[in-house]
Amino acid sequence: MILLNTSYFVGKGLHRECYIHPDDEQLCIKVVVAGDLSESKREQSYYKLLQKRGISWDILPRYHGVIETNMGAGAVFDLIRDFDGEVSKTLEYYLAAEQLDKAENPGLSQAISVFKQELHRQSIITMTLSPKNIMYKKTSSNEGRLVLIDNIGNSDFIPICSYIDSLAKKKITRKLHRFEQTVLKMCAHNTALQQCLSN
Ligand SMILES: Nc1ncnc2c1ncn2[C@@H]1O[C@H](COP(=O)(O)OP(=O)(O)O)[C@@H](O)[C@H]1O
Ligand SMILES: [Mg+2]
Repeated sequence: MILLNTSYFVGKGLHRECYIHPDDEQLCIKVVVAGDLSESKREQSYYKLLQKRGISWDILPRYHGVIETNMGAGAVFDLIRDFDGEVSKTLEYYLAAEQLDKAENPGLSQAISVFKQELHRQSIITMTLSPKNIMYKKTSSNEGRLVLIDNIGNSDFIPICSYIDSLAKKKITRKLHRFEQTVLKMCAHNTALQQCLSN
C-alpha cells in the first residue's frame, strides 16, 4: 500500500486531492475526499475509450490505473511539470496573475489556441472546460502548452456523442465557445494578453 502525507500534496479540487507519487516523481495520485467514486468511474471509462483510440497524450495526462493508498483508492496519472522540474500551475493562475511578465503573453495565448485546435481535432469530449482544470505546462520560460487534467468525458445520460464523431465535434465546439468567454473574462485586467488572444 502507498502511504500519502502532506509532504506530497500538490493541489485540491472539489472532490479530490492530488499527491506526488512517493515512488515516482513524474506521477501523481488522486484520491477522492468528498463525494463518491462516480466521477472517477466516468473518467476511467472515458480514458479507456481514448486509450483504445490511441490518442497522442499531448493535451491530456496519461492514466496509469488505480492503486491502493492509506487514503483509499488512488488514480495514477502523469504529473504535469514545467521544463525546470517545478509542478506546473493552472491556467487559472496565469489568467488571474496581476504581475504576469509581458513576455509570457504570446506563449500563453499560443498555447490556448493550440489547445482549442487539438481538443477539437482529437475529438476529446469534456464537461465544463474550466481554467482551474487545465495546467499550463511551461516548455521554456516564455512558451508552453495546455494540459487538461479534469472534467474529461461525457456526463450525458446516453453518451452517444462519445461514439459518433460529428456529434462529438459539435459538442466540443460549444464547450470551446464557453471556454473562450471564460478565458477573456478572467484576464480582463491583462490587456496585453487580451490583445494576443484576439490576434
Ligand atoms: N496531472 C496533474 N499534474 C499536476 N497537477 C495536477 C494534476 N492533476 C491535478 N493537479 C492539481 O490538483 C488539483 C485538483 O485536481 P483535480 O483533478 O482538478 O481534482 P477535482 O476532481 O477535485 O477537481 C488541480 O487543480 C491541480 O492543481
Ligand atoms: Mg478539478
